[in-house]
Amino acid sequence: MKIREIQDEILQLKKEQDFCVLAHSYQATEITEIADFTGDSYALSVKAAKVPQKNILMCGVRFMAETVKILSPEKQVFLSSPHAGCPMAEQMTREQVREFKMQHPDHTVVAYINTTAALKTVCDVCVTSSSAVKIVSQLSNEKILFLPDCNLGAYVQSQLPEKKIRLVQGGCPVHAAVSEAEALAARQAHPQALLLVHPECSPTVSAMADYVGSTSGIMQYAMQSPEKEFIIGTEISIAETLQYCCPEKQFYPLSAGLICRNMKATTLMDVYHCLHDGAGTEITLDARTLTKARICIDRMIAMGG
Ligand code: 13P
Ligand code: SF4
Repeated sequence: MKIREIQDEILQLKKEQDFCVLAHSYQATEITEIADFTGDSYALSVKAAKVPQKNILMCGVRFMAETVKILSPEKQVFLSSPHAGCPMAEQMTREQVREFKMQHPDHTVVAYINTTAALKTVCDVCVTSSSAVKIVSQLSNEKILFLPDCNLGAYVQSQLPEKKIRLVQGGCPVHAAVSEAEALAARQAHPQALLLVHPECSPTVSAMADYVGSTSGIMQYAMQSPEKEFIIGTEISIAETLQYCCPEKQFYPLSAGLICRNMKATTLMDVYHCLHDGAGTEITLDARTLTKARICIDRMIAMGG
């Protein structure tokens, strides 16, 4: 079968099976083309809660499907590939956080949305990469534990010197792997281009950037800018998507290594099998996890995140 034919079948199956398909913006183009919504994980979860469909298929990684379930506990939520995890989201356990809180009861624990539902249950408030600075700035406590991404945490610290932010060792292996040498080489290769970087990159790389922001922030910045050339310091698919959206501009990936294999674990045929054969992995969370993780997210929402 041709890709277009499979896509047409998927579009038909979505209607028949009452499914809304969500695709994170790092998914392959053939998947974003059949999705009802494409975007960052939190924005997708908010959209999913508002759609009439009773079934949601998340094309992304497991923590994203869990966030969808937390915001839509009454819906059936499925993950498109059982192999799609996120090493950053899964790097810490609840026990490690509980231990820290026992030793440092005076700290507010801030969790990046890229964490498991289980981890959110022991954290005080969530943030996204777009809202992190805004949310942390509103916390009355100056003592913060930020987890699990030390690079995003360091970026928040650089923007909020009045806070005392403790970091844990860890983060996104894809973004953190970009080196200063690669950033210098990209700058030299494209001297006219602006460097746009995700805060999951190292502080050294972020400090070299013309703009630091979330994936959707990078996309908006590049689309609205009058400039014509951009080096894109986030997952490689974003440079490709921007090139389709703005053919008159030039987009260069900051590094050929900016490929998230977990995000790319989902294939178009996985989506087809999820809808046709019920092959998706259903996300189930116990009532306590749903309630406590929701509180962590609701605190972010209450602060305008
Ligand atoms: P955002 O899409 O929220 O910027 O997150 C980046 C990321 O690494 C998603 O896994
Ligand atoms: Fe996780 Fe990084 Fe991949 Fe995002 S890009 S899913 S944070 S490994």
